[in-house]
Amino acid sequence: MAMTGVLRPGHAQVRVLELDKAVTFYRDVLGLVETGRDDQGRVYFKCWDERDHNSYILRESDQAGIDFFGFKVLDEATLDQLEKDLNAYGIETRRLPAGDLLETGERVRFTLPSGHEIELYATKTAVGNGIPAVNPGPWCADSERGIAPVRLDHTLLYGPNIAEVKKIFEDVLGFYLVERVLGEDGESEAAIWLSCSHKVHDIAFAEYPEPGKLHHCSFLMESWERVLRAGDIMSMHQVPVDIGPTRHGVTRGCTIYAWDPSGNRFETFMGGYQPYPDYEPLTWTFDNFGQGLDYPQRKLHETFLTVVS
Ligand SMILES: [Fe+2]
Repeated sequence: MAMTGVLRPGHAQVRVLELDKAVTFYRDVLGLVETGRDDQGRVYFKCWDERDHNSYILRESDQAGIDFFGFKVLDEATLDQLEKDLNAYGIETRRLPAGDLLETGERVRFTLPSGHEIELYATKTAVGNGIPAVNPGPWCADSERGIAPVRLDHTLLYGPNIAEVKKIFEDVLGFYLVERVLGEDGESEAAIWLSCSHKVHDIAFAEYPEPGKLHHCSFLMESWERVLRAGDIMSMHQVPVDIGPTRHGVTRGCTIYAWDPSGNRFETFMGGYQPYPDYEPLTWTFDNFGQGLDYPQRKLHETFLTVVS
């Protein structure tokens, strides 16, 4: 098997201000599939084409933002090994018991120098995607409700010390750098895009003074037409849109950024190229990040740099 170690982004737990309003938005407008609720009051969703029980969890709070972002690893032995590797690197970990998150096995959690909580886990109940495993069709009823993204694809997190964060992802977790934006000094990295797979990013970070901030969780669409249709649906429901539809220079992804009712930014996107770990990382200079962010308009949108939750 070629893929070992950390496989993919698995779940994000996001804080929302009014749970009922958020559930209605994520279910009916974004078109996620509700899969459960727990005794802590959390509501669980998955994207229609995801096969595991949950990928996006809402928790009511008086402050928006992200509680944690989790990656699925190959198996329990891999989880044990990665925990040992993190500890040997000097990173404290703690175990959360199986079932603490619905239909999810034991999780290993640690805090990044950027202030973000990251989790690894090996087990989550497979519930399927609503399409039979024998003679499957290409889509199902859940794929046509609301924006209906295919999967939770990646996140962009804002916080301090991303040089240290990069080392942890590269040296311990087996990620590689795909693209980066240099800081004003031309040497430091202001933002980094990291992959554990063949995807152009599984997680990204931008240097920011305040720790633990969420820039966006991103949801994958199947086509540019589906991204444009997402924009139509956002407008029909008066969803506040930040940027797009447009194409990033960074990653070549085609995107719309918008905000949920609590002020958490999310992205609906498609495209990008497929890197391999032996590729040389691509670099954007500080003065040209406008093009990196919005290739057609070459515009450094102020909100992208300053609005986080
Ligand atoms: Fe993104």
